[in-house]
Amino acid sequence: MSERFHIVGISGSLRKHSHNTQLLHNAAALLPEDFRFTLADISVLPLPIRIWKVNCRSGEAVCRAAAFGEWLLISSPEYNGQLSGALKNALDWASRPALQTPLAQKPVALMGATPGMGGTGRAQVGIRSLLFALNMDSVNRPEFLLPQSHTKFDESGALTDPMAQQIMQQLVDNLVTKIKKHANEQ
Ligand code: FNR
Repeated sequence: MSERFHIVGISGSLRKHSHNTQLLHNAAALLPEDFRFTLADISVLPLPIRIWKVNCRSGEAVCRAAAFGEWLLISSPEYNGQLSGALKNALDWASRPALQTPLAQKPVALMGATPGMGGTGRAQVGIRSLLFALNMDSVNRPEFLLPQSHTKFDESGALTDPMAQQIMQQLVDNLVTKIKKHANEQ
């Protein structure tokens, strides 16, 4: 079956053995056959603070996602109770050009992993208000917070916690449903 839909994953962590990046790979394995998954490399995006006229370079997956209609799946760590600077920078890039952001109305789902006890709950509150500011169409349920993430994966990077697997499956299913509904309406 050819892949009709392309989901771009954004990990808010640039750490080599990131639990959030592992979570995205686990979620990608749950997608139906007609979906393709790309993990965006947001480490290449320079800080645009000095450039007012930021233009999405089509070479960057996160910009391509914004510009050419793909859908987003975000997994974020929690840094000092908020989202990471790398994730905010990536979404700022993808939010351009101003007032015509290609992110508007685009389905997006959110999850997060941390070795801490809070499961990135505080960060996700901030990220959801950012997605609202970007006028994105967020999957609001289930909320997927993964605490003590260092105990939840095996050596191969597979998620081992049954409750987390169940919630992630539900999140992926709800994102797929929203994407297909959007596609049928266009
Ligand atoms: C953290 N970490 C952290 N964790 C948490 O649960 N709440 C927090 O507020 C913070 N604050 C924080 C600040 C900074 C600057 C760093 C570098 C880290 C720990 C963080 O969740 C941990 O590094 C995770 O492993 C990040 O996810 P990845 O890299 O495994 O995907």
